[in-house]
Amino acid sequence: MTTKFDELLERFHAYLASVGDFLVQDAVARIGWDMPARELEPHSLGCLRHLDRAAELTPARTKQLVQFLAQERGESRWGQTYGESDFGKAFIDNYGWLEVFGTRGHFANDEVAAGVLILGPDIVYPDHHHVAEEIYIPLTGGTEWRMGEDSFHKREAGEVVYHASKVNHAMRTGKEPLLALYIWRGGPLAQKSTITGTVTQGRG
Ligand SMILES: [Fe+2]
Repeated sequence: MTTKFDELLERFHAYLASVGDFLVQDAVARIGWDMPARELEPHSLGCLRHLDRAAELTPARTKQLVQFLAQERGESRWGQTYGESDFGKAFIDNYGWLEVFGTRGHFANDEVAAGVLILGPDIVYPDHHHVAEEIYIPLTGGTEWRMGEDSFHKREAGEVVYHASKVNHAMRTGKEPLLALYIWRGGPLAQKSTITGTVTQGRG
């Protein structure tokens, strides 16, 4: 029986397979795509209100994938790794992720985790790091990203953003929400990040 999550995994795989980037292609090739499904209770979050805008903003090639995420938001298990005490209430009301596959996602995979992250407009995700290496592909543009000692750079939808193991990185959104696809590999897949930055008032 094919479920709606099989369709999600298929769309997710098809998009990743179409990205012309060595790192992404290497990751796609190493993933065993025949993964067992998990029965998960749906879980909703405040940040899901940004999915409709993300579906408007995302380019044509990712429109169906994002529309699917928006349509099925009520059936999906959205999660948060941080609490209000980490980055404050505004962050928590505007942040969340859906793990498509991994150690806790809709499909079981102990080697690699992947899913999507939402950040609402005008949100700073301060400097943090983790053992796993991380590949992001923003599905909406306009967010600024930084890693290591670099300054913030605005990235458009479809660009590939790489965060090396244990190196600080941060993002800050502008006037529009961020929806980004992520891949985590090479480390504990459900580890809470180590936070090294703080949330400052406004965007600076
Ligand atoms: Fe990260």
